[in-house]
Amino acid sequence: MLAIAAARLGFGPVAAVDVDPVSLEAAKENAVRNGVELEFGLADALSGLLPGAAVAVANVSLDVVGALGARLDVCRLVTSGYRDVDEPAPQGFELRERRTLEGWAGDLFERSEKLQRNEVRGRRDALGGTRMRPQSPR
Ligand SMILES: C[S@@+](CC[C@H](N)C(=O)[O-])C[C@H]1O[C@@H](n2cnc3c(N)ncnc32)[C@H](O)[C@@H]1O
Repeated sequence: MLAIAAARLGFGPVAAVDVDPVSLEAAKENAVRNGVELEFGLADALSGLLPGAAVAVANVSLDVVGALGARLDVCRLVTSGYRDVDEPAPQGFELRERRTLEGWAGDLFERSEKLQRNEVRGRRDALGGTRMRPQSPR
């Protein structure tokens, strides 16, 4: 449902992953009904190959959300599927916003700035760029 909503909102390309073949079939049928094209993958998000993306959305249990952080190559992560007393902490992400409704929570996480800085530095090194030398004290 989330992948279909993302596609209908204009995001693309959208890849939908589920570990359950029945859920995946239902998503395929609903994508056709909604007139959107998605890439579908039968995979366990905690062990399978996940595509890199700008944004990932996950409506799954608290433990899966908590473990997803280390597996995702995305800038933003939108999660739901757990109660408002729960506070998932996906590794490498910082909570930016929380919304709640009738005891359920939805969270927006962004990749932590420290990690982003390291990634930019890593990319610069990989491209052979120069890094600023630390200034010597005057
Ligand atoms: C609450 S349902 C949400 C269904 C759908 N994502 C939606 O938003 O309508 C949770 C779904 O997550 C799937 N799921 C649970 N753990 C998973 C995992 N480790 N990897 C991939 N899918 C998982 C389940 O099979 C189930 O279809």
